Amino acid sequence: MLKIRTVRHGSPEYWETIQLRRRILRTPLGLDFDPEDLEKEVRDLHIAGFDLARLVGCLVLTPENAEDIKMRQVAVDDQIQGKGIGTELVIFSERLARDRGYKRMVLSARDTAVPFYERLKYAKEGDEFEEVTVPHWRMVKEL
Ligand SMILES: CC(C)(COP(=O)(O)OP(=O)(O)OC[C@H]1O[C@@H](n2cnc3c(N)ncnc32)[C@H](O)[C@@H]1OP(=O)(O)O)[C@@H](O)C(=O)NCCC(=O)NCCS
Repeated sequence: MLKIRTVRHGSPEYWETIQLRRRILRTPLGLDFDPEDLEKEVRDLHIAGFDLARLVGCLVLTPENAEDIKMRQVAVDDQIQGKGIGTELVIFSERLARDRGYKRMVLSARDTAVPFYERLKYAKEGDEFEEVTVPHWRMVKEL
């Protein structure tokens, strides 16, 4: 059964999310994390989904200003993608952001993930751009 909760920056569970994020989002592009960027994540909210004790998915929420919060680093274990875990992580995060008073969720979606976010009612804004060598779209949802 999927259990979603926040994990503390620097905790053993946080480092597990880094391993998953690295495997799903960075290594396939021949990239890795900059330790300085990970240190800055102390300001972020870290959301993780567990099946029993096993980490199966995670994402990061970074406040941009009083109204907007950015969802990034959305990663689901490639063994179990397409089973609703990503959707549950996004829904949990939207509720958390709303409870904290944010008005909008914003994100940079890889073009391959755009249909996933559109299904969750995110709308494209502006033009395509490149990030980590991949085409992306800014997407927004009112909370
Ligand atoms: C994108 C991702 C987070 C989605 O999580 P998931 O658990 O696989 O997604 P869900 O099972 O909740 O999918 C919900 C719907 O989106 C669809 N979907 C998921 N990923 C998709 C993709 N890349 N392209 C098109 N549709 C997609 C699913 O088919 C499903 O629709 P359905 O129920 O009608 O079949 C996950 O596949 C992943 O980690 N991908 C690799 C990393 C990545 O691209 N992250 C996002 C960076 S912006």
